[in-house]
Amino acid sequence: MIHTFEKGTNPAAPTLLLLHGTGGSEQQLLPVGRMISPESSLLSVRGNILENGMPRFFKRLAEGIFDVEDLIFRTKELNQFLDQTAEQYQFDRSNVVAVGYSNGANIAGSMLFHYDMALNGAILFHPMVPLRGIELPNLSGKPVFIGAGSNDPICAPQETEDLQELLLGAGADVSVHWEHFGHQLTQSEIEAAKVWFQQQG
Ligand code: MLT
Repeated sequence: MIHTFEKGTNPAAPTLLLLHGTGGSEQQLLPVGRMISPESSLLSVRGNILENGMPRFFKRLAEGIFDVEDLIFRTKELNQFLDQTAEQYQFDRSNVVAVGYSNGANIAGSMLFHYDMALNGAILFHPMVPLRGIELPNLSGKPVFIGAGSNDPICAPQETEDLQELLLGAGADVSVHWEHFGHQLTQSEIEAAKVWFQQQG
């Protein structure tokens, strides 16, 4: 997968896996990752799907209607990519925290829904429920931050509440931060995520 890797100064800090929104690239969240954890290594990935020239992490049939088969395939692909890059760049595979926005948050959510060990935590900015009707793995104590917009036209508040409930049901430790700026990723939301991140272990 097309990506960029920036080595951090503290090998004990989690490696941040940065996952952009539709139409973004591996450059989009580098400043956000650096803001959240200045000492971390950053692995920023470009989604393998192109929708009208816009990179994404999995196919969709329409706005908000996901191609579940492709989502599952791409989730596995990204998990394997993490295994490979951990060897290549020598970061701790068991200490990866995803930071995803919109479509990137949705594939990060899908990683949590499918694998108990893929991520050590996640910051999900404006996520949806990636897929329904599956049993989640045991996510006991896994820290998850959700940034949501009470007036987000793409991720309805009900999606946030359902996602929170599903993750809590699997044992995750979920914090939700609400704002009122639609689907935008705001500075104050990033700052709230940073404060939350610093409070983790
Ligand atoms: C998705 O397709 O993942 C969501 O609708 C968010 C987005 O538009 O990227």
